[in-house]
Amino acid sequence: MLNADIKEVVITEGQLEDKIAEIGKAISDDYIGKELVFISILKGSVIFTADLMREVSIPCSVDFMEISSYGCSTVSSGEIKVVKDLSCSIENKHVIIVEDILDSGLTLKYLVAYLKTKNPASVEIACLLNKKEGENSLKYMGFKAPHKFLVGYGLDFAEKYRNLPYIGVLKEEIYQ
Ligand code: IMP
Ligand code: MG
Repeated sequence: MLNADIKEVVITEGQLEDKIAEIGKAISDDYIGKELVFISILKGSVIFTADLMREVSIPCSVDFMEISSYGCSTVSSGEIKVVKDLSCSIENKHVIIVEDILDSGLTLKYLVAYLKTKNPASVEIACLLNKKEGENSLKYMGFKAPHKFLVGYGLDFAEKYRNLPYIGVLKEEIYQ
């Protein structure tokens, strides 16, 4: 049943499942024979990461970073901080950053530059949702997203709604 705070569902459980299977297959083909590490960006991309990894059929590992740029608001502050850093070396490894959503693109731009200083063999991005027109930095992309504040499937508003199995738009009265 639809959560009472959700105005509309924009991406269904079935659509997520199909798209993630497709991305997992593409990664499995592209990275055969390479040492692959996923870097999952906490907290929003944990659910995407968990589902994506299970669609990848080649050996791989995972590490986590936490970046803060939003706080508990629906608008980016523009200021990026590393809250949790990598726990393993990525030197000479093939990195795929796993992110929930690209909005302004600042977070991913910062992360790519940061990770490149650690001498990986390569850095690519798997991002589930993209709000930005003309963005071409995402090697693996799930869906174009509407310019609305989205929640569910890892995405939160003030730490809530991450557990919804679909992606939806919140009712305005919830964040007003
Ligand atoms: P960017 O740096 O502006 O690209 O922002 C990316 C980050 O903002 C994502 O990792 C999310 O945590 C957050 N974000 C952007 N749009 C939304 C949204 O619609 N719902 C929830 N979080 C969002
Ligand atoms: Mg995020």
